[in-house]
Amino acid sequence: MKTTALLFVFLLSIHSTLASDPDPAQDFCIPETKPIRSSHLTSFSCKNSSEATVNDFIFSGVKHAGNFSATGISATSVNPTNFPGINTLGMSFVRADLDVGGINAPHFHPRATEVALVLEGTIYSGFVDTSNRIFARVINKGEVMVFPKGLVHFQMNVGDSPATIFGSFNSQNPGLMRISTAIFGSGINEELLEKSFGLTSREIESLRRRFIPKHVV
Ligand SMILES: *[C@@H]1O[C@H](CO)[C@@H](O)[C@H](O)[C@H]1NC(C)=O
Ligand SMILES: *[C@@H]1O[C@H](CO)[C@@H](O)[C@H](O)[C@H]1NC(C)=O
Repeated sequence: MKTTALLFVFLLSIHSTLASDPDPAQDFCIPETKPIRSSHLTSFSCKNSSEATVNDFIFSGVKHAGNFSATGISATSVNPTNFPGINTLGMSFVRADLDVGGINAPHFHPRATEVALVLEGTIYSGFVDTSNRIFARVINKGEVMVFPKGLVHFQMNVGDSPATIFGSFNSQNPGLMRISTAIFGSGINEELLEKSFGLTSREIESLRRRFIPKHVV
């Protein structure tokens, strides 16, 4: 009995270590209806594959940079919600542009490792591991950095012209948690935040104003 329980725990832990997007059961699966979210896509039925055309597998929405945000970043995430042909293939990608001095603030993807290729520019790029060790340096056009799954990472354009990065994820739904927004923009009890960070209630208020997502207030 005890051995069975141990074996069960062992198998469970193997399962979670190897967990990734499910293997496709067919060549591809273009959802019949356009998904709104990239999660729970398995509940969509695939359209008849003989109706698929080459255009289902080409995405043209990352030819140009978008407008820069206040922190100098423009990012277009590409996943089954805007590129249905990638559904069930276990990957997704992003085009990110950084203005001079622009940043991609510290964040992590709970379900994917990311490789980020610098297409143009000079980027200070790095991540922090679970021992709080930092791995960061400046990388240039043509260099690729890998951000291990679930680890906090960040980028800043330290060159003198705009930069472009192509990031690729080994999940069609990597998830994005931005540290500042998760902590100060989610409504965690103010006293708890004051104690956590050794800040006054005024300082917490100002951080909250800055990071509460606009659509929430
Ligand atoms: C898919 O489309 C083809 C060609 O139009 C048709 O012959 C076939 O029956 C369809 N399959 C299904 C499952 O509807
Ligand atoms: C960028 O900003 C311009 C001017 O405000 C606007 O017309 C355009 O639609 C924006 N582009 C995107 C991709 O949001």
